[in-house]
Amino acid sequence: MVSIGGSILIPGDGDSSYIEDLACMLKRAAEGRCLFVVCGGGRVSRYYSDTGRALGGSVEQLDAMGIMVTRVNAALLRIALGDRASTGAPDTVEQAASLREEGKVVVMGGTAPGHTTDAVATMLARELGARTVVNATSVDAVYSEDPAANPDAERFSALSIDELAELVYSQHDAGRSSVFDPKGVRIAREEGIDIIIVSGRDLEDLEAAIGGLPVKGTVVRS
Ligand code: UTP
Repeated sequence: MVSIGGSILIPGDGDSSYIEDLACMLKRAAEGRCLFVVCGGGRVSRYYSDTGRALGGSVEQLDAMGIMVTRVNAALLRIALGDRASTGAPDTVEQAASLREEGKVVVMGGTAPGHTTDAVATMLARELGARTVVNATSVDAVYSEDPAANPDAERFSALSIDELAELVYSQHDAGRSSVFDPKGVRIAREEGIDIIIVSGRDLEDLEAAIGGLPVKGTVVRS
């Protein structure tokens, strides 16, 4: 179960070569098993939510546009995967789970308003009975604070789910975007799902995380 941030998938520079490399790695990782990938919206969904908000759009309207963008990003990754992508574009975690097939990669975007694709990934993991969600994101690990704003921020290689929960709830309460959706952390805690956070730019580390090998990123045990 892999969740890929939209800003990773669509960096805005050299997109097709990155997606090609990612697809190549995912196909390798799906040998002998089925991989599930949830795509985020990134910069494009932020454009629509910022513009829609400026025009007076409701939270529901902004979420609806965000979901559409995550689904378009999923469609792009399916193109890169070719016949190794499962057929169909699942709109719900139940539909995605029903597409399980060895050697295939099932790719989806968002599902319903009120959460992000991090939460969708944990809901799909719950549906599948998967024990781990690998989160490929724009940071290389979990930090105590935004490392771009504070170079002295502490970098964590391992955390308990309770420690991650404390961190994301405090970031969320401070109005900052958190490293993982608080709703996703809650589901992971309830279901005993581990979360591994790695840089989506580092395909070697992402492949290691998918293969259950040691990673440079952060391992969150639930
Ligand atoms: P993302 O998952 O990309 O959210 O969905 P994000 O907060 O921008 O993700 P990060 O920062 O890359 O981790 C984009 C937007 O789409 C809507 C939400 O508004 C979200 O902010 N969305 C997405 C939903 O409403 N429901 C979903 O299931 C998925």
